[in-house]
Amino acid sequence: MVGGGIIGLASAFLLARRGWSVTLFDPAPGKGATWAAAGMVAASAEIAPGEQTNYELQKCALPAWRELRAELRDVIAIELDIHETGTLMVAWDDSDRRLVDQFAQVAEEFGVRPQSVQRSVDPEMFSGLSGRIIEGLFIDGDAWLDPDQAVALLTAANEVLGVDVVAETVLEVFDTGEGVRATTTTRTHEGSVGILATGANPLPNGARTSGVNAVRPVRGMTARVLGLDRSTQPTVRAFVRGRTFYLVSRPGGYCILGATSEERSEPVVEVGEMQRLLRDALDVVPALETANLLETRLGLRPANVDLEPFFEVLAPGRWAWSSGHYRHGVTLAPLAARDALVFGESLV
Ligand code: GLY
Repeated sequence: MVGGGIIGLASAFLLARRGWSVTLFDPAPGKGATWAAAGMVAASAEIAPGEQTNYELQKCALPAWRELRAELRDVIAIELDIHETGTLMVAWDDSDRRLVDQFAQVAEEFGVRPQSVQRSVDPEMFSGLSGRIIEGLFIDGDAWLDPDQAVALLTAANEVLGVDVVAETVLEVFDTGEGVRATTTTRTHEGSVGILATGANPLPNGARTSGVNAVRPVRGMTARVLGLDRSTQPTVRAFVRGRTFYLVSRPGGYCILGATSEERSEPVVEVGEMQRLLRDALDVVPALETANLLETRLGLRPANVDLEPFFEVLAPGRWAWSSGHYRHGVTLAPLAARDALVFGESLV
């Protein structure tokens, strides 16, 4: 397994659980896009025009996470917390309201019917939000989990199952026709099948892709603050001055504010983007005024040409490339893990 983000870790886990001997290469497992992710498993709120295939996949994600949770529990006797809070979608001004209406229209085309909600009827649902936001859409069935917890539990389970973690970058891969080789600066490792789950990072030399899929980085920044506990309420998604904003609130008042989305990969947070994110946050959720800023996290979403995820078997057939999960890496991780398992089993 080349790559130890949520996709690589979950794939390694499922393979090891089914009896495979797995070696996972990553210089810093869980510290790529997964590190910056808020952890929403929000098939409906993530609906976007033209992304029907993505939506159909995402619908299977929550049941798949529940199954993965059960498998993790069997191995380490610890429960992954999945919070099924739903999503509240709101608008900041009139033009943002048009964007919410457009979202509702696309959602209906996908067979999802968000429910209109009013602050006057359900004030709790709007707690912490600006007084000028008096209505919204409630989207049932969406959930979130903590990617840090998921990474920690998968790492612990993989250790129990004997997954060998090599904290090095794979520079070159080779397919002998009967097996695979992966070379780092210090060693060459051999195996019977290999999976490249490197997210938006370049593939190692020697990976023979078909050219059908091509991944580009879409940079995302989230800010982490402490001071508002909305964890029993739906995740907030807002359109603010045409931009999207979300707030995932965990028990205890830890909140993730997100996210920027830019077609570039510089690993630095700019003052301007931070200012825009915090301005949107404070406009929509003024209760954050006195929250403590803890940290920012930056990740690169792997976006495919058509924005759809893929599992591509590379010629001559023993390496596969699992990527393109774009905004949905955490959501789709258990499904990507199943693809890895099917691929492995097809070769024995
Ligand atoms: N799925 C949330 C994001 O990409 O920011």
